[in-house]
Amino acid sequence: MKAIKKAVIPVAGLGTRFLPATKAIPKEMLTIVDRPTIQYIVEEAVASGIEEIIFITSTGKSAIENHFDYDFQLDTVLKDKKKVQLREELANISNLIDIIAVRQKEPLGLGHAILMARNVVGDEPFMVLLGDDLVKSQVPCCKQMIDMYNQLGESIVAIQRVDMDQTHQYGIVEGTETDHRRTFKVNRMVEKPAPGTCQSNMAIIGRYLLMPDIFELLAKTTPGHGGEIQLTDALLALANRRDMYAYEFEGKRFDAGDKLGYLKAIVDFALEHQTLGPPFREYLESACKDVIAP
Ligand code: UTP
Repeated sequence: MKAIKKAVIPVAGLGTRFLPATKAIPKEMLTIVDRPTIQYIVEEAVASGIEEIIFITSTGKSAIENHFDYDFQLDTVLKDKKKVQLREELANISNLIDIIAVRQKEPLGLGHAILMARNVVGDEPFMVLLGDDLVKSQVPCCKQMIDMYNQLGESIVAIQRVDMDQTHQYGIVEGTETDHRRTFKVNRMVEKPAPGTCQSNMAIIGRYLLMPDIFELLAKTTPGHGGEIQLTDALLALANRRDMYAYEFEGKRFDAGDKLGYLKAIVDFALEHQTLGPPFREYLESACKDVIAP
């Protein structure tokens, strides 16, 4: 069984749900407490043993690559000013991991974005982490999936349970329980099912562990829901060809590409922050008294 060493992080989307904030700034660069969203995601991949990251980028997203690059000018200024700690912090970010960027010339959908990584990933299984999906957990979500892959040896999609009236916002999996904890064998998958057309509430979130066959299937996938090349359509084709599993990860997921999801993420991450957490909690408690329940 081939080890999982590469992670693809697509960040080429337009971020229309977060306009006007995302007109000139990539949504992945919006800050959650003290770091951009994308840094949490790269850190999750690194903490899971990933050795190489492939960003799928587009025009206007260079800030993401720059964030992980070494900035000679800035480093020189910080060195002259003897800002030792800050220098170290920035060095840690640029030394995190090897990063490769591949362009998606047009935003033709998530499936199309992943297909752009074909030549760089090659013939090995790999992770996909969406650039705006944050998971807060004790064991990184990506690592939980890799651990499960080491037992199953097949593709795995991460899922969470959602309310039945929310299923139309997600790719939904129908599956049967397996002997492995929190793991289901995928029988059917449908992208954003119309209300009442699907019995399952197992929603796919932004973490996928994929066998390389997915590339061949993505290349054959025609535009689906919303006129985009949908990853879910290729996943369904892959599930028809070989076993695929859905894994109910342990942790809490935030859609940071959505305004409300982003706010929730800030509150949760701020409350857990080592130094900012306690004073923020105190502030929230008094704000709740004054504003929410005066
Ligand atoms: P989303 O649908 O959440 O991203 O795609 P979006 O299209 O940027 O956002 P909205 O809906 O307009 O607000 C999930 C992930 O896939 C990437 C996005 O960058 C995001 O990380 N993506 C999506 C691409 O890289 N290329 C695409 O063509 C579409």
